[in-house]
Amino acid sequence: MQKRFSQACENNRLPILTQLKIYLAGKQHLLEIGSGTGQHASYFAPELPHLIWQTSDVPENHPGINAWLAEAHCETLRPPVALCIGQDEWPERLFDAVYSANTAHIMQKEEIRLLMQLVAKHLPSGGVFCQYGPFTEQGQFSSDSNRAFHQQLIAQGYGGYRDIDELKTWVQGQGLTLKEIINMPANNLMLVWVKV
Ligand SMILES: C[S@@+](CC[C@H](N)C(=O)[O-])C[C@H]1O[C@@H](n2cnc3c(N)ncnc32)[C@H](O)[C@@H]1O
Repeated sequence: MQKRFSQACENNRLPILTQLKIYLAGKQHLLEIGSGTGQHASYFAPELPHLIWQTSDVPENHPGINAWLAEAHCETLRPPVALCIGQDEWPERLFDAVYSANTAHIMQKEEIRLLMQLVAKHLPSGGVFCQYGPFTEQGQFSSDSNRAFHQQLIAQGYGGYRDIDELKTWVQGQGLTLKEIINMPANNLMLVWVKV
């Protein structure tokens, strides 16, 4: 299968990597949820050689992800496991880090709620969840283009933007706390969650 290519991944990878190098320091096993094309994994894993990078996504995306991985020649990069939140069980291995980009506004509300709760349940104490993408803050869109994109997503049947307060509410009392909200290019955010 041909590699699939995302221009957005190409554009955002360096700013994301800069943050991952900070927040994933000392972590050993990372689960990526919704690896998509596989571009992020094949770029990030060789730059973060201290950790094993486990890709995952729905099975139909696996051939494309594997095509990127085959070219990365990276020993710490693992082929995708099937993980569709709401359908599949959380992988049995222990991960002390989770990364997911641009999935919260694609998933249905119940799926992203479940994802947050699964991360809270499975991360060990001190574990970190780096969640990248567009979000609203206190109900506010950060730009008109973000509002328009949200409306387009809803019209197409996707879940649409989630509010940071909503995410926090879903993991309240489950030990997952939002440590940082980092402004990223193109009106995106990196949310850094830590399991206490
Ligand atoms: C917009 S793409 C983002 C892909 C990649 N992370 C990126 O930033 O380019 C959304 C991804 O979420 C995945 N996805 C959608 N629903 C999902 C679910 N319920 N569980 C796991 N992954 C899901 C899709 O298969 C797709 O790969």
